[in-house]
Amino acid sequence: MDQEASRTALSTAVARGRHRLQDDPPWVLDDPFALPLVGPSWRIVERRQDTSLPPELGLAYRAGVVARSRYAEDRLAAGSFAQYVLLGAGLDTFVWRRPDLVRSLRVFEVDHPASQQQKRQRAAALGLPELDRVTYVPVDLELDTLDRRLADAGFDRAAPAFFSWLGVAMYLSEPAVETTLRTVAASAPGSELVLTYVPAAGHLDDVGRRLTDHLRLLADALGEPQRHAPTRHELEALCRRCGLDVADHPQPGDLARRYFAGRTDGLAPHSGEAVLAARVGG
Ligand SMILES: C[S@@+](CC[C@H](N)C(=O)[O-])C[C@H]1O[C@@H](n2cnc3c(N)ncnc32)[C@H](O)[C@@H]1O
Repeated sequence: MDQEASRTALSTAVARGRHRLQDDPPWVLDDPFALPLVGPSWRIVERRQDTSLPPELGLAYRAGVVARSRYAEDRLAAGSFAQYVLLGAGLDTFVWRRPDLVRSLRVFEVDHPASQQQKRQRAAALGLPELDRVTYVPVDLELDTLDRRLADAGFDRAAPAFFSWLGVAMYLSEPAVETTLRTVAASAPGSELVLTYVPAAGHLDDVGRRLTDHLRLLADALGEPQRHAPTRHELEALCRRCGLDVADHPQPGDLARRYFAGRTDGLAPHSGEAVLAARVGG
C-alpha cells in the first residue's frame, strides 16, 4: 500500500455484508453496516469477487472473513480488557455493531492514514457517529512507530488490552510484523492479540491452495501484494521471540465445529488464512 485507501479492505467488508444478505441465518457475524459503509460500489466489488473466484472458493473466502472476526470478538468478550486496539481496522464496524462491548472499553482504531481517512469520510456521510470511547490513530505500520502513536492517542500500557490484527500481517514486511508484535508484547500482562496470517504452502489443503493463489493474484491486481507467509511453527516461534505466549492456534476444522456446525449451504472456513491468539505473560 502506498497513498491509496486499501481496496482489499473493501473486499473483506463486502464479504461480511454479503454473508448477512446472501447466506442463511444463523449468521456467524451479523454486520448490517458493512455494505452501506462501502457504498453503492459494493456491487462492483461483488462482481469482481464472483468473476475471479469459482463459487466454492467464494464461499470459503466469505466464511474465512466472518470466522476471523467472530473468533476475535468472542475472545474479546470472554476476557477482561479495558482497551481494544484494531490494527489495520479497514471497514470493520465493531464500534457500531457491538455497543454491548464498546461500553466498557476504550477503542483505538489503527489503520493506514489513507484507509482511515476514507472510512471516516464514508461513516460521516452515512451519519454514523464518532463515539467518545473511540480514537482513530492513523499509522503506517511500515514507517511509523506504533507504540509512540498509540501512547500519543492515550493508550495505557498499564491496562490490559485486546488487539485484533485481521487480514493485515500478510501485506507487511517481516520487520514491520516483528515490530508490531513487540509493541503488543510491551502491553500490560494479560493483554491478548488475535492475528490472522496466510500460512506457507505446505499447510494448505486443496481449497486453501487454490484460494490463496486466487487471492494473491487479486491482491497484486489491487496494488496490495502479499509478502509474509510463515509456517505455523515459524509464526509461533516469532511470537515467542517477541515476548508473546501462544494461547490458541486453531485449525480450520476447529473453527468449523465452533461456528459452522449444522450448516447445509457449504459455508466453511478454509486453510488459506489461519488465526492465532497470543497473550502477554507476566
Ligand atoms: C484486507 S484489509 C483488512 C481490514 C480489516 N482488518 C478486516 O478484517 O476487514 C487490510 C488492512 O491492512 C491495512 N494496511 C495495509 N498495509 C498497512 C500499513 N503499512 N500500515 C497500516 N495499515 C496497513 C489496510 O489499510 C487495510 O485496512
